[in-house]
Amino acid sequence: MKAQPPAPPPFDPLMLLKGFVSLRRLSGSYPAGHPSITQKVKELEDAVTGYLRERPELRMDIIHGNVYVDGVSFSRDTQTHAPVVKELSDLGIDSIYIREGVKPEELLAFAELLWKRDPSDREPFESQLAARNVRSVSLGRLVQLDTRWRAQKWPDAPTGPLDPDYAESLARVQDAFETVASGKRLDQVTVRDLVKLLIYKVAKSNAALGQILAVKHYENLTYCHSVNVAMLSLLIGRQLGLDDAAMAALVEAALLHDLGKTKIPLDIVKKPGALDKRERRMIEAHTTLGAELLVQTEGLRPLTPTVALEHHRSIKGSGYPDLGSAVPHLMSQIVSVADIYEAITGARSYQDPTPPERACLVLARLAGDKLNTAMVKAFVNAITFFPIGSIVRTNCEEVGVVVETNAASPLHPIIALLDSSFSATSARLDTSVRDATGVHIRHIVETMPAPDRFDMRLFFEAAA
Ligand SMILES: [Fe+2]
Repeated sequence: MKAQPPAPPPFDPLMLLKGFVSLRRLSGSYPAGHPSITQKVKELEDAVTGYLRERPELRMDIIHGNVYVDGVSFSRDTQTHAPVVKELSDLGIDSIYIREGVKPEELLAFAELLWKRDPSDREPFESQLAARNVRSVSLGRLVQLDTRWRAQKWPDAPTGPLDPDYAESLARVQDAFETVASGKRLDQVTVRDLVKLLIYKVAKSNAALGQILAVKHYENLTYCHSVNVAMLSLLIGRQLGLDDAAMAALVEAALLHDLGKTKIPLDIVKKPGALDKRERRMIEAHTTLGAELLVQTEGLRPLTPTVALEHHRSIKGSGYPDLGSAVPHLMSQIVSVADIYEAITGARSYQDPTPPERACLVLARLAGDKLNTAMVKAFVNAITFFPIGSIVRTNCEEVGVVVETNAASPLHPIIALLDSSFSATSARLDTSVRDATGVHIRHIVETMPAPDRFDMRLFFEAAA
């Protein structure tokens, strides 16, 4: 019998971070090409490529002295490694992302830059990495957690000028949620008015949809998240052909699905990274707490508490709360899809927002197991990979805003070109145009973050 090759050792992020710290020192103390450096690079490369064999990216975050790998806490023997974690923290390093295809030269260049790094340096580390041709290693942004209500270190609310109807709905929902947080009852008239505002005004504004669908550079609190999930659910409902009554029920349920979070301490709701057991139990209780609150609220539609109870349950019966093998109601299944998309396209205090096209892939991966495949398809068809309001770059180096999606060819929307200073031009570009051989001339290479100076509301007003 042939002997099996030995299993690779389990991935240990602390050893890897320690390896980076030693390589940093070695590269500062020995000349390039020294055997100790070569050996250390090889060790690091083996550890990283072993991990990346199964996944496209390795993400290590240091949050309050604890190391998280892909968002999951890795709390083994942290005392021994405390100096390593501290050394990186002192350098201002909170997160290291390494993507598949990383080359040993990139690992070495990264360590060398770490050696030279001065946290007060004005040149962003990203540009230093780019100058050394390091494409597969980057640093994430992490801000110190500040649990005060309306902490400003990472904005809690959308920034920049908002569509007026969207801004009004946010303000009204914030008010309603604060009413519940202070122990008062939710008023059914407030809820009905909000549902109307969302269906008849916000859903009809391209500027509002752009502000909801594209990446969001704010860490949104429950009230913002709720409005966005309501709008995204509405888009799924429309795609599925729901009638007006069902649509109103869906929007109401989606709007209030997380109401139970108003009863959970904010420092737990906003905690970055993984939660411990007790905290997780508390967060999970927002489903039952929400359902209880909603059952006691007069005048709401009957499915609203059900959706609050079920929106974290999968179609196979897993998730929370434990309700046996009961399959969630279709309304809950719609809200689950919208909820996950909204959460990952918004910024978090420990991670940048995920662009829509990648968020759609995350949903696709969950389809059939956690999420209802038909709902995911309806969602992706409704918003497409490059939703209205996304700022995208083509392979021909054009940058534009998606102004029209293309159901027949979702990867090829119509874009309005922006000039080099991100100002709108009148030129429209149909990216679905093909050459004489039938091949698309252009494709979208990436979704780009909206620059501060880009005003989505003004843009769509002018376009209208
Ligand atoms: Fe939730």
